Amino acid sequence: MNVLFIGDIVGNIGRKTLKQVLPALKDKYNPHIIIVNGENAAAGRGITKAIAKEFFEWGVHGITMGNHTWDNKDIFEWIDDEPRIVRPANFSSEAPGRGMAIIAANGKKLAIINIQGRAFLPPIDCPFRKADELIEEAGETTKAILVDFHAEATSEKIAMGWYLDGRASVVLGTHTHVQTNDETILPGGTAYITDVGMVGSKEGVLGMEKAAVLHRFLTQLPSRFVVDEGKWHLHGLSLQIDEATGSATKITKIRLTEDEWLVM
Ligand code: FE2
Repeated sequence: MNVLFIGDIVGNIGRKTLKQVLPALKDKYNPHIIIVNGENAAAGRGITKAIAKEFFEWGVHGITMGNHTWDNKDIFEWIDDEPRIVRPANFSSEAPGRGMAIIAANGKKLAIINIQGRAFLPPIDCPFRKADELIEEAGETTKAILVDFHAEATSEKIAMGWYLDGRASVVLGTHTHVQTNDETILPGGTAYITDVGMVGSKEGVLGMEKAAVLHRFLTQLPSRFVVDEGKWHLHGLSLQIDEATGSATKITKIRLTEDEWLVM
């Protein structure tokens, strides 16, 4: 099974870029299933129903989220009725939505699980134990299991990769918006990368305009971050999973820029 995963899509520029580049990515990597992280899709904060609908129309099959899940209040109205979107499973048991979904497309079935880290992020239930629980549940339906670990600290993400090695097909990190150079297949057969990266402006700070970010660093005063609209970059992963065993057989980084993507 071929899976395409695209890193955190930031704002309008990130969405426009996805729409523009996705057809070429489909041609090149022939994915059966396409998953994106959408937690920054609405002006950098959360996602709306209209944006999720557009992603699905463009060929996305599933959406993962993160710490910005609730930033757009409209999500409370529809998340329970949208089985193709997952938010961190280790949020409170009172929270709406789900942390695991079975995505079925093109004759394939992939479980997607979203968990959030606890290092340098708000206190939350244990991501390791929650992953145990959901991997077992997903295993009743499919051996192909993708875990999006939305976390800040490289140590916590690497630890999760080792913890789930041989039990998940893929453990990938999101949230930092910086693609790491450590993609690998761990000894137990789990494809791993510390962070997939992002889709959006490469000329700001993690997708946001640099002036406001610098103002906050230099003055420690509040400043409102807005999405930068400079030239884009797009980061993702192409993955191959052996459905019979659940093991990953290939992990390839995707790294495109506005100036170079036509020659990919
Ligand atoms: Fe995040």
